[in-house]
Amino acid sequence: MNKRSERICPVEKAGSLDTKIRRWLQNPHKILRPYIKEGMTVLDLGCGPGFFTVALAQMVGKNGKVIAVDLQEGMLQKLKEKIIGTELENHITLHKCEEDRIGFKEKVDLVLAFYVVHEIPDQQNLFNELETILKPNGKLLIVEPPFHVSKKAFAETIKKANTAGFTEVERPKVLFNKAVVLKKN
Ligand SMILES: C[S@@+](CC[C@H](N)C(=O)[O-])C[C@H]1O[C@@H](n2cnc3c(N)ncnc32)[C@H](O)[C@@H]1O
Repeated sequence: MNKRSERICPVEKAGSLDTKIRRWLQNPHKILRPYIKEGMTVLDLGCGPGFFTVALAQMVGKNGKVIAVDLQEGMLQKLKEKIIGTELENHITLHKCEEDRIGFKEKVDLVLAFYVVHEIPDQQNLFNELETILKPNGKLLIVEPPFHVSKKAFAETIKKANTAGFTEVERPKVLFNKAVVLKKN
């Protein structure tokens, strides 16, 4: 596993995670629509500057909630600047976690882990904790990038999720990426 500074997407690159071209290639509403219902509580793990968080908050509506979790205060700050003074602020909780512990007790219906699992050194520990955070039948959507994450590494990730008590439900198509939906057993 690489050094932390080589592994984790730096705050200086936050701008590249929220561009028009990405919005066109990875339309958040289109990707997330099959998994979100109004009123849900969703945890956006490794939310970065909130490319998916904002869409999630719009989709869960006024009775729903999004917990935006990131390791880097700077990423949470970028998201905060985006939502401050808007209605979305009432439905998004920002939570700074530790590298090896999310540390959030409230139960959620769905966890989104977009481009983050490969940045986490102990994936088994991560999935064990996610299993405790998800409600019964809760789902976990993992999307990993094409070049950083090999087919073999992705298969190993899924194996660790299985060990923690998740069963594969489907492999959604997310252009060029590797994606899986798992359900808590
Ligand atoms: C490549 S960015 C992806 C951001 C966002 N999910 C997106 O797709 O736009 C990865 C994010 O995961 C965060 N991250 C890395 N390790 C983490 C950990 N152990 N727990 C929570 N967040 C982490 C990084 O700080 C960074 O903001």
